[in-house]
Amino acid sequence: MKVLVATSKPFAPVAVKGIKEVLEAAGHEMVLVEKGTKEDMINAIADCAGLIVRSDIVDKEVMDAAKELKVVVRAGAGYDNIDLAEATAHGICVMNTPGQNSNAVAELVFGMLVTLVRNRYNGTSGTELKDKTLGIHAYGQVGRNVARIAKGFGMKVSALDPWVKDEDMLADGITPVHSVEELYQNNQYVSLHIPATPQTKKSVGKALIELMPKNGVLINTARKEVIDEESLAEALAAREDVRYVADVKPDIAAELEEKYPERVFFTPKKMGAQTAEANINAGLAAANQVAMHLKDGWNRFQVNK
Ligand code: 3PG
Repeated sequence: MKVLVATSKPFAPVAVKGIKEVLEAAGHEMVLVEKGTKEDMINAIADCAGLIVRSDIVDKEVMDAAKELKVVVRAGAGYDNIDLAEATAHGICVMNTPGQNSNAVAELVFGMLVTLVRNRYNGTSGTELKDKTLGIHAYGQVGRNVARIAKGFGMKVSALDPWVKDEDMLADGITPVHSVEELYQNNQYVSLHIPATPQTKKSVGKALIELMPKNGVLINTARKEVIDEESLAEALAAREDVRYVADVKPDIAAELEEKYPERVFFTPKKMGAQTAEANINAGLAAANQVAMHLKDGWNRFQVNK
């Protein structure tokens, strides 16, 4: 059977090679569309039984064109790019690959923070992360890696996650927090790891940011949609000490960069999961999951039940 790998932001070549090998060993043929548009995906998908994507949009239009499609695997964590209801209506199984790229995202959190607090290496004195407070907003796979690395920096780490037991956080050596207000109020640094869902969209804005202690830094490697951008702009205007760093550029990035060149910092492209290791981990997991699903309906990580 044919499996389409459609990635507008390509995997590292070593990962593509591995994906091809996994699919071929299972008797499938890889069709590769890199740096393509949704149109390119649609043009290639008609006779494909499997689809592997990253943040690429998979909606009704794509699924209507995919007459043979049985399984879509999002090589990564967040699946807000896939219309789950449509997939279910089309009888397509959707899976993600939880945990496979989380270390890469967590490492970038600290890369960006160090860049920020060392004043982008401009020769002036910055600050250190040691002994500073870090609040992790959602303690999933990325949040756990952020906590592990933060402890290495000597930060004081706490986290909010209603789905995680206090004892599990305590066992990881971090402090559980039980309200979002408390998280923002007590931490100079807050790292966002909530998924983009109808409940979380635009859920972070001025009301939370203004609670942050002096010199508060909000870092977002999750999704731009979880920020209320108008309210973020108001918070940055009201609090001259607050800074915002994101790997998921806001729509108003240019305006914020112009107004606050020292206080905001955005990667030019979303780079969190863009390492060879993360591409290999997530890409190979996706290829294996597609092969297992096409073999016997394996669906351990199905998200559209
Ligand atoms: C994820 O949800 O796995 C990350 O945001 C990475 O997304 P990407 O594959 O588009 O880089």
